[in-house]
Amino acid sequence: MSSLLLRLDALSKRYPNGTVALDRVDLEVRCRDFISLLGPSGCGKSTVLKLVAGLMPATGGRVVWSPSASLETRQQPISFVFQEPTLMPWATVFDNVWLPLRLRGQSREQAGEAVKGALARVGLDTFANVYPRELSGGMKMRVSIARATVTSPLLMLMDEPFAALDEMSRGRLNDDTLALWWAQGFSALFVTHSVYEAVYLSRRVVVMGARPGRVVGEVLIDEPYPRTEAFRSTPRYSAWCVQVSRMLRSDAGGA
Ligand SMILES: Nc1ncnc2c1ncn2[C@@H]1O[C@H](COP(=O)(O)OP(=O)(O)OP(=O)(O)O)[C@@H](O)[C@H]1O
Ligand SMILES: [Mg+2]
Repeated sequence: MSSLLLRLDALSKRYPNGTVALDRVDLEVRCRDFISLLGPSGCGKSTVLKLVAGLMPATGGRVVWSPSASLETRQQPISFVFQEPTLMPWATVFDNVWLPLRLRGQSREQAGEAVKGALARVGLDTFANVYPRELSGGMKMRVSIARATVTSPLLMLMDEPFAALDEMSRGRLNDDTLALWWAQGFSALFVTHSVYEAVYLSRRVVVMGARPGRVVGEVLIDEPYPRTEAFRSTPRYSAWCVQVSRMLRSDAGGA
């Protein structure tokens, strides 16, 4: 088993309006792990990601980075992919992907190889000079993922990145995400509402419940990687989906 990257230790969040979004969430994230957070709307999935990213403070508990990881993390930060691609419309695909390296002081020339590599990995190497408005929704999301991976992050936080896409694009992006994860070796914390997506991608599916947001259970998807489209049509895949759905429903039933 690979080493620990970070640990959520009784992580809690009460927003200023009094909403308890998270109540004592414990979770260990190991290096190269692929974890999905699954749960009903409002159970605190996005709140977990924001706390891990340090975008806001917790009101209880802690995010504990392992000592070896925290040193590295300063050079290889966390990357965040949102449901919206959040591209700069006035900038080319190349310049959008260059942004995180530019913010670290790298010139266009210095960043060139890395940007081209990141675009090639998402199949957009021939689109470097076009503007976001010329791209489909799926392609925009690929640019967003290229921008997130160009810094070789240790941890990738993805908040329903494919929820707005059609089924075909979503399936393809699932495969691309797994290929990138496999090749780059980051840990992934992936938020989704889709049981099917969570099971396909993840080694661990963490099921959350609402009011207050908490972890209600976890399913270890004990299937080998690389996973391919063929996995989706196996009886084992269906069985995992049933198991995860049951866990989701059992919590909803009690609410
Ligand atoms: N800035 C905020 N101020 C007050 N309450 C908030 C804020 N952000 C989120 N909440 C509340 O905290 C709870 C958890 O929100 P969060 O966005 O983390 O849920 P989620 O699981 O990501 O939901 P969804 O699946 O709809 O994206 C919800 O009740 C939400 O209304
Ligand atoms: Mg959310």
